[in-house]
Amino acid sequence: MRNDLAFEVWSRERQQRIEGVLEALLPAAGDTPARLAAAMRHAVLGGGKRLRPLLTYAASELVGADAQAADVRAAAVELIHAYSLVHDDLPCMDDDALRRGRPSCHVAFGVATALLAGDALQSLAFGALSRGPGGAEACRILAGAAGPAGMAGGQQLDLDAVADAIDLEALTRLQRMKTGALIDAAIRLGAGCGRSPSVEETRALGAYARAAGLAFQVVDDLLDAEGSSASLGKTAGKDAAQGKATFVTVLGTDEAKRHVQALHAEARAALRPLGRDATRLAELADWIVARRR
Ligand code: IPE
Ligand code: IPE
Ligand code: MG
Ligand code: MG
Ligand code: MG
Repeated sequence: MRNDLAFEVWSRERQQRIEGVLEALLPAAGDTPARLAAAMRHAVLGGGKRLRPLLTYAASELVGADAQAADVRAAAVELIHAYSLVHDDLPCMDDDALRRGRPSCHVAFGVATALLAGDALQSLAFGALSRGPGGAEACRILAGAAGPAGMAGGQQLDLDAVADAIDLEALTRLQRMKTGALIDAAIRLGAGCGRSPSVEETRALGAYARAAGLAFQVVDDLLDAEGSSASLGKTAGKDAAQGKATFVTVLGTDEAKRHVQALHAEARAALRPLGRDATRLAELADWIVARRR
C-alpha cells in the first residue's frame, strides 16, 4: 500500500496512467473509419478529471490489487462516461457546445458522427472489460450502471423532470441513476479485482458510493449555477437557462451547500470501519466536494 504518497502525487500518477490505458484501447484509423476514430479520441482524450478511474484504482488498492489489475476496469468506466457526455451534449439533449474546454464532439465532428462515436465507445468499453479476469461479472456490473436502470434511465428522468414540480426524493432517485450508478460501478469494479472484500467492506463501500456519488452531482449543479464556463470547461448557467430540475432549484444554493457537507461527512463516516486502507477513497470524497471544475 502506498498511502504515504501525497494525494496530489497519487492522483496525478493515476491520471497519467489512465491516459495511457485509454490511448491504447482507442482505435486509430485503420479498421475504424478515420472520422469515427478521431471523434472517439476527441471525446475521451485530453481532458476530464478522471474521477471514475481514480475511484476504481482507490477501491482496487483497498483489496490489495496493483494498478495493472485495475487498468482496463478503470478505462471501461471512463469510456462509458465519455460516451454519456457525448450524447448528453447533443442538440436533442442538453445542446452544449463546450466540453472539457473544447468544442463538444458533435460541434467538432457533426451530430451523426458524435452519435456513432458514443455508440462505439460503449461497445469498446464492454469488449475490453469482457476480455479481462472476471469479465462476465464486470460486464454485468457496468451494464447495470449504464443501462435502463442506471445512467440511460436517469437521463430519461432528467429529460422528463419539470423543475418546479420535482421534490428532493424524486430528484435524488434521478441523480442516483444518472450519475450515482456509474460512480458506484467504478468503485465496485475496483473492489472486484483483488482479494474478495468482506461483507462489512462491501457494505461500507456501497454506503460511501451512495453519499459520494450524490455529493458529486450536487456539486455539479452548484458549479453550473456559480462557476464560469472558462473554469468549468463546459457552459456555465445551462441548467437555469434550460429550466432543468437540479439540487439548486429544489434546495436553493445555501441548502444545497449544506447538503454537500452532510453527504461528505456521510461518505467519510462510511469508510471508518475500513481504516487506513481507505485513505484514498476518503481523499477522493474531499476532492469531490472541494473541486472547482
Ligand atoms: C460531468 O462529469 C457529468 C456528470 C456526470 C455530472 P465530470 O465532472 O466527471 O466530467 P469530466 O469527466 O471531469 O469532464
Ligand atoms: C449528465 O449530467 C450526466 C450524464 C449522465 C452525462 P449533466 O447534464 O448535469 O452533466 P454536465 O453538467 O453537462 O456535465
Ligand atoms: Mg444532462
Ligand atoms: Mg449536460
Ligand atoms: Mg451539470
